[in-house]
Formats: sequence, C-alpha cells, structure tokens
Amino acid sequence: MHIEDPKIIAALPELSVELRRASSLAELTSLAIGGTTDLLRIRDHESIPGLLSLLDYHGVPHSFLGGGSNLLVGDGELPWIVLQLASPDPDVVLEGNFAQVDAAADLGRMVTYCAKHDLGGMEGLIGVPGTVGGALRMNAGAYGMQIGSYVREVKLYRAANRRLEILRGEQISFEYRHTSFAPDDMMLAVKLELPSKPYKEILQGIRICNEKRRSSQPLGQKSAGCIFKNPPGASAGRMIDELGLKGLSVGDARVSDRHANFFVNAGKASAKDMLALVAGVRERVHRAFHAELEHEVVIWNA
Ligand code: EPU
Repeated sequence: MHIEDPKIIAALPELSVELRRASSLAELTSLAIGGTTDLLRIRDHESIPGLLSLLDYHGVPHSFLGGGSNLLVGDGELPWIVLQLASPDPDVVLEGNFAQVDAAADLGRMVTYCAKHDLGGMEGLIGVPGTVGGALRMNAGAYGMQIGSYVREVKLYRAANRRLEILRGEQISFEYRHTSFAPDDMMLAVKLELPSKPYKEILQGIRICNEKRRSSQPLGQKSAGCIFKNPPGASAGRMIDELGLKGLSVGDARVSDRHANFFVNAGKASAKDMLALVAGVRERVHRAFHAELEHEVVIWNA
C-alpha cells in the first residue's frame, strides 16, 4: 500500500516518524518471503497515539512488525502499511535485578547483555531470533523456560483505548506461545526481573542451549522457526517426521531435513509455495493422527 494523502506525509516529521516507501517484507523477515508496502519507522513512543489517530482518521490500515522472525507474509503488494519501532540507544537499562528493555531491542543481544551483568534465567532464549517485543507477544520459550515468567511490567499502546498504558505482570496471562494481549496492542517496552547468577554459570547454560539448538534445528537457513505449535502432549516435528515428510517441497519451500517442524525457503520460495506446503502437511498430519495443528508462525495474507 502506498500512502498518498499529503496531510499524512506532512505530519510525519513532527511525529518523529520516518517513511520508507515500498519496503520489501522479504528483506525484513527471516523467511525472506513477502511483497512490498510503505513502512513507518517510529522513533518516539509518545507519538504513537497521534500517529494512529491520523492513520485511522484517513482510513489507512496498518499492522505492527517486530523482528520479522516468526512471520509469513503474502506475495505482491500488501493492502496495508507496516509500522515498526526504531530501537533507542541504549535499549536495555539495568537497575539491580531489573532490566528495562525497549520492545525493539534484539532478543539475543538483550540476553547476553544481561548475562554479562550477572543476570540470568533467559539462557534458553539464546538463538531465538527476533525482537524483545515479538518474544513478549508470543511468550517465546525454549528448553523449559518462557519469557513471561520474568515480566513485571509492560508498556504498550492499547489500540482499543488509543492510549499508552503500563500493565503489571499479574494483569497479563502468559501461556504456551500465547498471551492475553489484544492482536492490535503494540508492545513498547518491558521491565523484567531476573535472578542474579555469575556470568560464567550463565555462559555455560547458553553454550548448552546453543549446542542443542545447533544439533537439532536448521539454523543457517531461511525459516520462521517452528511452523506449528505442539499439540498438548505431542510434538508436531515428530509427527511430520514420522510421516516421512522431511524434504517435501513445493517450489523452493521445503520441510527441513534437520527438524520437520521448520519449513525453509531453500531459494526463491513464494508465499504461495510456502502456504501450499503448510496446508499440505497440516492435512496429512490430520489424516494420519487426527490432530489439528495450529500455526505457530503468524501469517499475513491478504
Ligand atoms: N523430533 C523428531 N523429528 C524432528 C523433530 C523433532 O523426531 O524432525 C522429536 C525430537 O527427537 C524430540 C521431540 O520431537 O523427541 C521434540 O523435539 P524438539 O526437542 O526439537 O522440540 P520441539 O517440540 O520440536 C520446541 C519448540 C521450539 C524450541 C524447542 C526447544 C514449539 C512449537 N517448538 O520444539 O521452538 O526451540 O522446543 O525447547 O513449541 C519455535 O517456537 O519456533 C521453536 C523452534
């Protein structure tokens, strides 16, 4: 979508918002799939209510983009624009056992920065790509931990009230790859409370998680992590593997040979290819195991 209204374009500099024309979602997502649209980069949280009122008033549809590491975007021009936070410097501020982190901060860098200051707990998240905001919204987790356990406060833009709000940890429910945030809430910052641990000990945990991940996941390839959630008590990856579907392809979209719940873009896969592969695998799992796999990856398809 192309922002045409001159009133919107004229208001952007005052709101500290940068317009990037015809941004390629393929370049902004780890799957490297997706068409183009205008992108607005937001530098100041305080300008968000004004910006969104302006967009709503002029009828411009929009979605929020985090790090693009858990997202499958449709081909062609998107019929909505994309909003993304620019990361401030510094994006992590520590005070005792608390870390105040901007949602645009890179998750892995945040984990290592805290580790270097003897704050642990998040070792499992090392190697999970994306931003802190994305991890928060999805309640990212691995190796027995989830980010939600450490959340004490979240600053967000509540589209329903058109306001910036601060929620306490107890007001948010964090479940397996699911949170009580509304789909149009925009994560802005989070306060985490982390256990004290010597750096050396944290580093050991990080090394173990890195090793496990390297041996079981296709890390160097273009993917969006796990495509499906695990059904209660089962493993989507194991079910797909048991059906012998590793290596199954539609165009350049391919079920990873290393981990069957990772679907990789092995070249120039289109969203159409990837969606066909996802639907095909889902159907075969349903027929064989009578299990309805739910998408873990977020799909933006017009
Ligand atoms: N397995 C297979 N074949 C495969 C893949 C897995 O047989 O191709 C088996 C494994 O041998 C193991 C079981 O399935 O016995 C579970 O596999 P794994 O330990 O790799 O974990 P997972 O359940 O597939 C989950 C998360 C990952 C996270 C890992 C490690 C989901 C959907 N996936 O994977 O998260 O990294 O545990 O904690 O919850 C993601 O969210 O994108 C993601 C990759």
